[in-house]
Amino acid sequence: MTSPQYNCATLVFPAVNQAALEFLRAARHRGESVVCAASVANDEIGAEWGGLHRLPAIYDDDFALRFLSLVGAQSIGRLFCPVASVHDFMRRFITQHRLDIELIGQSPIRQQVEQHRQLMARARRLLPLVELCADGAPPLSLLEVAGVQRQASLIYGESNDDKLAAMMGVFAGTPAGDVVEIGSLMGRSAFVLLYLAWRYRIGPVLTIDPWRSDAAIQRESPDEFQALVDEWDFEVLSEGFMVNMIPFRADDHAHIRLASENAFKIYVDGEAILSPMGGRVAYSGKIAAIHIDGNHDYDCVKKDCELWLGRMLPGSWLILDDYIWSHGDGPYRAGNELLHDQPDRIGCAFVCGKALFVKLRY
Ligand SMILES: C[S@@+](CC[C@H](N)C(=O)[O-])C[C@H]1O[C@@H](n2cnc3c(N)ncnc32)[C@H](O)[C@@H]1O
Repeated sequence: MTSPQYNCATLVFPAVNQAALEFLRAARHRGESVVCAASVANDEIGAEWGGLHRLPAIYDDDFALRFLSLVGAQSIGRLFCPVASVHDFMRRFITQHRLDIELIGQSPIRQQVEQHRQLMARARRLLPLVELCADGAPPLSLLEVAGVQRQASLIYGESNDDKLAAMMGVFAGTPAGDVVEIGSLMGRSAFVLLYLAWRYRIGPVLTIDPWRSDAAIQRESPDEFQALVDEWDFEVLSEGFMVNMIPFRADDHAHIRLASENAFKIYVDGEAILSPMGGRVAYSGKIAAIHIDGNHDYDCVKKDCELWLGRMLPGSWLILDDYIWSHGDGPYRAGNELLHDQPDRIGCAFVCGKALFVKLRY
């Protein structure tokens, strides 16, 4: 056998599922020449790829002939098989027919096995951090840490593993009360807060994000960084957030689509705040944990602290994101002022995953 021809086309067979679509789109971005085939019709893939070659099922007598004819006609040098049984069949078929075709990647089953092992290795690495931050309170199990990491990683976001692990730890010792997040984006950290608030019976979750470019622009950051805001479609953000959150405890969570300052007025006035399911969420007005991750300009972070920290319970946690940040120093300055100006209030404080964690005495 000679080495595969990289200037040949890649055949995606069977082009029938999400994995096939993702491969096709990535291949198109790479400028790779791709051909799709399947034994059953798939209108979505057919429409997006300008047609789908039909092949018999792999067990049919004429499969070999028809497959080899397609390979010859389309100059196929690589094969992507996103279905486990077909992948296994084609691995043997290529060997038996001594074909000069590279079967790309692992079988979907092996991929699952490896992904799971990698996830568990990641969770085992994070568990000691979760336990350390729990500070003697009952921590999450290894399976819970892995489960939360896995779901969180499916949601686009800006919270890293270490910060989420520290959140998982400190919630073990958080008093009962409201859990608030300022700045949710697509909901990665909000999902983790929802899980933890439920798991430790802390209380309802309130998320706040205006999803508006004028609020999101951070004037103290470099121009190139500010311009990134324009890449968002804010209606996609809003809908995407709801899609990400709705399977998880949708009746004990509400979102206010306003800047934090305006949301604060609604929260303290005790106005009805409705969950995505339409029911009124019973906030106590006293905060057990707050994640401040909205606009990072100094004035905004300072204002968030001034307003919301007056509502904190004894033993509650403030998580101030991007205390260590390369695009500005708003959270760093506001966080340091809290530490220096109100030392009596600080139970303990540490930095993890770039965020400042502060346990408040009152
Ligand atoms: C860094 S992202 C949040 C990331 C999210 N917490 C995560 O872990 O993926 C910042 C978010 O803050 C929101 N934001 C900007 N200004 C805000 C304000 N004044 N009040 C509330 N949210 C704000 C932005 O719309 C943006 O979605």
